[in-house]
Amino acid sequence: MMEKTLSIIKPDGVSRNLMGDVIGRLEKEGLKIGAIKMIRMNKAQAKGFYKVHEGKPFFESVTDFMSSGPCVVMILEGENVIFRYRELMGATNFKDAAEGTIRRDFATDIEKNVVHGSDSPENADIEINYFFNALEIP
Ligand code: CMP
Repeated sequence: MMEKTLSIIKPDGVSRNLMGDVIGRLEKEGLKIGAIKMIRMNKAQAKGFYKVHEGKPFFESVTDFMSSGPCVVMILEGENVIFRYRELMGATNFKDAAEGTIRRDFATDIEKNVVHGSDSPENADIEINYFFNALEIP
């Protein structure tokens, strides 16, 4: 099934100069980057993005972190891309992530886990539209 998903290189990935490594892994795996840009969220915008996590113990902290510096947001396209990108990222907690995944190789804690990816077609649609306008969406 042809899908789109939203990928974010988080502020830790950008500040640690991991953009090239992450993008290289996506390209090597054959994931197509349909749109890409660097953005900086303020606290309110980060809260809007992580609305589904409102009320959870990590909500304040993760929204502080996500608004602490620039992020790279991308639309990835392809067959089964939601699952394929999640496989490349590895588990949210890098300690549970498989060998060779982005989070296993680069994440430093459960919050500073370098990348984000949508978890379903419904959320991919919402998340893509949160960051990209109609002229930018492939
Ligand atoms: P992400 O996949 O972007 O979704 C929510 C983010 O919250 C997650 O990655 C982490 O960066 C952060 N987070 C911090 N603590 C937790 C936790 N206990 N469970 C899930 N996510 C967490």
